[in-house]
Amino acid sequence: MDSLFHVVEAQQFNRELLTEIFAVTKEMEEVVSVYGSSILNRRIMATLFYEPSTRTRLSFESAMIRLGGSVVTTESAREFSSAAKGETLEDTIRIVEGYADVIVLRHYEGGSARLAAEVASVPVLNAGDGPGQHPTQALLDVYTIQKEIGRLDGISVAMVGDLANGRTVRSLAYLLTRYKDVKLYFVAPELVRMKADIKEYLSRNGVYFEEQEDLIEVVRQVDVVYQTRIQRERFGDRTKDYEAARGRYIVDTKVMEALSENARVMHPLPRVDEIDPAVDTDPRAAYFRQAHNGLYIRMALLKMVLAA
Ligand code: CP
Repeated sequence: MDSLFHVVEAQQFNRELLTEIFAVTKEMEEVVSVYGSSILNRRIMATLFYEPSTRTRLSFESAMIRLGGSVVTTESAREFSSAAKGETLEDTIRIVEGYADVIVLRHYEGGSARLAAEVASVPVLNAGDGPGQHPTQALLDVYTIQKEIGRLDGISVAMVGDLANGRTVRSLAYLLTRYKDVKLYFVAPELVRMKADIKEYLSRNGVYFEEQEDLIEVVRQVDVVYQTRIQRERFGDRTKDYEAARGRYIVDTKVMEALSENARVMHPLPRVDEIDPAVDTDPRAAYFRQAHNGLYIRMALLKMVLAA
């Protein structure tokens, strides 16, 4: 079995390791049901967040506390850490590794997690690096698909919305190559289509994909609709481009009518207007359950890098 240290990108996981992570994740669901564990007693996790977060930061922190560990944190690190005085990320990591046993990093630049891992002597867990990747989100997404649909081989997934800037869809596409007979349908406004690097990787790994414009037609064929937000923060001053992209594809009750009874709607969240709140009470709306699975996945990762 491969051991786990840094978690930087989705391509680092093979199928065997994914199976192991999901087995530990299932155990973590049981740990939470009995009010936690003390296996990470006296271990410290540092969360360095240079971009906003609700789910990733709080679920990592909750995960550490539920396993008996402690947390030191800087949110809004761009303003409130010494980055504001000009300290480099590498120097910050060299300092924080002396204070903590594991570092969870969210940064606004793609490649920052890899850079941090190159200088860190403690595990670095990538909590999202700009438009690059979000591997722990992809792990919880795949775990959710397994739990909700009951299989991963043969799964068909529609990825919808901002596929160019969405780090979650990028990481998810990489992870799904580890399963057999996967079909991916990309449904995105022209300006934010899936990038060539992902399409090349899918082709190299023999994964079927197609780009489609008609969301209703696509949802009739899939097990999972993975909706994403058009990411205003990646458009800079290109307000017109953002306005042209948003609102093009919305999951509403009409889309739900076309979706099969056993299919699911997922979303990494936060959402803005791309899923109508009227969909929330539909049992096929899995996005809040999906976010809760993030706690179990992050408990499993912390256990595996610190206590295995
Ligand atoms: N899905 C996700 O990464 O959410 P946050 O930005 O709230 O962490």
